[in-house]
Amino acid sequence: MNQEDILIKAEEYIQKLLANDGAGHDYWHIYRVVKLSKTINEHEKANSFVVELAAWLHDIADHKYHDGDHSAGPREGRRWMELHGVDEEVIVQVENIIKEISFKGAEVKTEMSSLEGKIVQDADRLDAIGAIGIARTFAYGGNRNRLMYDPSVKPVLHTDFETYKNSSAPTINHFYEKLLLLKTRMNTETAKKLAEKRHLFMEEYLAQFFSEWEGKK
Ligand code: NI
Repeated sequence: MNQEDILIKAEEYIQKLLANDGAGHDYWHIYRVVKLSKTINEHEKANSFVVELAAWLHDIADHKYHDGDHSAGPREGRRWMELHGVDEEVIVQVENIIKEISFKGAEVKTEMSSLEGKIVQDADRLDAIGAIGIARTFAYGGNRNRLMYDPSVKPVLHTDFETYKNSSAPTINHFYEKLLLLKTRMNTETAKKLAEKRHLFMEEYLAQFFSEWEGKK
């Protein structure tokens, strides 16, 4: 199978697999990450096939939905790629990207070892901020039965992945525990520029949210 066909198959597979996810990890998240990855790669000039394939497969088995099993994603990715005759060299690269990509808490470092991985991680993080990020965050919080906001629960900067993962804090806290930190976590210069506008939009949104919370304009 040629590269173009593999990418079409990957899209078809992911579209079916994630069709009914109401918590922000649906097919359209993957679609946006693919688009963003390509936009970033116009400037970064990494291997476009690896970038696009990894973007399609990066959430193939999200640990949040596999009882925290971090090996599920890379394993599922490899299984799919082997089934579709992807070269072993590419499989190893994409498998690594899936392994390295998830955010594990404010103080926990996650380094991507390849430029392709840096690009897909940037795209994934860009889709977590801005107007889309706000929508996804509330969708996810609702799905988890979380309050939107509770002034008595203060945000926590998690220093380990376990407490970050098990947090049941109100959704607004997530802006301070993750989303507002992402701007400084971008790997590529291209993504840093794209993050600026989305970051400012979230700050404006939060200011308005708190103003309305207290019955002001
Ligand atoms: Ni993702």
